[in-house]
Amino acid sequence: MYKQQLIEKLGKENVSQSESERYRHSHDESPHEAVEPDVVCFPTSREDVEVILEIARTYNIPVTPFGTGSGLEGQAIPVQKGISINFENMNAIIDFSPEDMTITVQPGVTRMQLNKYTNRHGLMFPIDPGADASIGGMVATNASGTTAVRYGAMKDQLLDVEVVLADGRVIHTGTHAKKSSSGYHLTSLFAGSEGTLGIITEITLKLHGIPEKTIMARCTFDSTENCAIAAQTLLLSGIPMMRMELMDAASIAEVNLQNGYDFPIKHSLFLEFAGTEGAVTEEVALAEELLNDLGCENWTVADNPTEQKEIWKARHDLSLSFVHTSGLDEVGADVCVPISRLPELITYARQLIGESGLKGGIWGHIGDGNFHTIVMFNSKMEGEREKAEYTNEALAKRAIEVGGTCTGEHGVGLGKRKYQEQEHGVALDVMKSIKQLFDPQGILNPGKIFLP
Ligand code: LAC
Ligand code: ZN
Repeated sequence: MYKQQLIEKLGKENVSQSESERYRHSHDESPHEAVEPDVVCFPTSREDVEVILEIARTYNIPVTPFGTGSGLEGQAIPVQKGISINFENMNAIIDFSPEDMTITVQPGVTRMQLNKYTNRHGLMFPIDPGADASIGGMVATNASGTTAVRYGAMKDQLLDVEVVLADGRVIHTGTHAKKSSSGYHLTSLFAGSEGTLGIITEITLKLHGIPEKTIMARCTFDSTENCAIAAQTLLLSGIPMMRMELMDAASIAEVNLQNGYDFPIKHSLFLEFAGTEGAVTEEVALAEELLNDLGCENWTVADNPTEQKEIWKARHDLSLSFVHTSGLDEVGADVCVPISRLPELITYARQLIGESGLKGGIWGHIGDGNFHTIVMFNSKMEGEREKAEYTNEALAKRAIEVGGTCTGEHGVGLGKRKYQEQEHGVALDVMKSIKQLFDPQGILNPGKIFLP
């Protein structure tokens, strides 16, 4: 019945029940179990989204938004089936104001599409989670990635978000002004809300100038702990780092294998400096000096943009390459801790992986105190899954104990629900009240963020 109404109102070309579309919308890049939606809708406008929500409301049907499916915590999996909303036909640039350094886009615009559009005006959208994710999905998960050390996360780029609420109202959470102290900060509430509070239909973002010069450098240390100390030293030096990434020796081995590099198989920092030519040259020299004092080895600079691009791509493909080469299942952590606690957390992660006896790597956005582990296991071997999951749990709990979070960038989705109580305490009750206020019927991406 409701499916017929969707077809009548949206047009049959914008509604699919085909096996292939239901499969495509059943999973993301995470290991969480796939669940197929009953129907996939492809809205072309905000009005279409309003129609979908009206029908969902009337028939009490769950609605799960889908960006590009690159998420890592199951946010786009329609665990209670119902309607999956795919935004690929809502991918227009609505308003571009180079002089204000702002842009307004529909949620299906991807970050690479956005950069292609803005780069020729000397402007860029810096948030880089690796995948060519949709802007809507990136808002919904408060995504970040390798450049957060300089620019922060998605929430820091948002000026305004248009949202269709479950009750049919359409709101704007902000303005086009660079800052505001007016009222509750609803924009930040929607950043990271994972489709559980409303459906995002338009986003106004800050843009940034493209730096004149970029230099990449990499170096190695004899322990991951020393990598963390080096990262802390660089931050304290005041050098405005563009990227500051850790890859442990196991991760470097994977990068070499997948991409034909022969980087020294040692715990490594990959750094990027960006700014005016003079400033960057000085910063690279200062960084080298500071890191040499800390025992850094194999300091190597990449000045050529093509080479830099290839190396960062290899870094970004890391998590997928671990999964695809081994043929095994994996669990991954995404903890983020105060920078002063980073050395001990990384050491603990290495200890946990070692004790599990499983293959695993550690890498991440060390300048933010955010790092990932991946632990590979064979689900057919008794006990392996439990051992892998234990590493994840112990690490998440320790991160929370030292004042950090179970997820620095991938979001709660399905896998981090179990840590919410420990991390938020009474504030979790407040979040549940907010959810109840926005979605009393429980139709907006049910099953995410909160345990049933
Ligand atoms: C990365 C993804 C997993 O940093 O967030 O590689
Ligand atoms: Zn990451």
